[in-house]
Amino acid sequence: MRRKIAAGNWKMNGTRASRAVLEALVRDHGDTAAEVIICPPAPLIPILADAAGAFSIGGQDCHAAASGPHTGDISAETLKDCGASHVIVGHSERRADHGESDADVLAKAEAAYRAGLVAIICVGETEAERDAGQTTAVVARQIEGSVTTSATAENTVIAYEPVWAIGTGRTPSIDEIAETHAALRAMVAKRLGSETAAAMRLLYGGSVKPGNAAEIFALEDVDGGLVGGASLKAEDFGPIIDAAAG
Ligand code: PGA
Repeated sequence: MRRKIAAGNWKMNGTRASRAVLEALVRDHGDTAAEVIICPPAPLIPILADAAGAFSIGGQDCHAAASGPHTGDISAETLKDCGASHVIVGHSERRADHGESDADVLAKAEAAYRAGLVAIICVGETEAERDAGQTTAVVARQIEGSVTTSATAENTVIAYEPVWAIGTGRTPSIDEIAETHAALRAMVAKRLGSETAAAMRLLYGGSVKPGNAAEIFALEDVDGGLVGGASLKAEDFGPIIDAAAG
């Protein structure tokens, strides 16, 4: 049985006062059957880690190196020291805004393992790629290039996030999500073996809301969600946690 995950990616939102959002979620959903991971802006990690209870805290990115002359970057080791247990790598906003390649993402995932963090590795096609019928090919290439062969079901979660569905209110149809996730699990099996693929959690991300989470998370190969906008308020993310708890 794969324990479902409700992961919130706060992106560049939040202040120290946002700790109240986490506190409300812990108060109302602290005993959920789902695994809950909140990924705030890095300076908030220690503040949230203090209030996280059974929930986990994650970073949104890390540098591949453990330390060094990389102004503005944060190492996986520092994230870990500040209270993170997870880190998102290869989010499409990092791939697009910071020119991160599959090889960069792979190196960041390896940094996460080195520091003892779980890597949440993101993949997903653009709208043009989808329109050209390339969804499966693009995701397969990203899996080959961004997921190192030392990935396991324990140290890695994969998030499929169609770029055109992120923050747009649009999602693929339920059948399309089912199809892509089944293909994704087969790709993971090809790369890491069928035992690892059967145990690895595969998240869907892109406009997950309280109104669609239960239907998406009920799909056989969807093990929860990576949620942006709807993770910023407890009244939105609470029902998404419930949907992941099943
Ligand atoms: P969204 O973002 O839920 O706001 O669409 C998802 C993500 O980027 O992880």
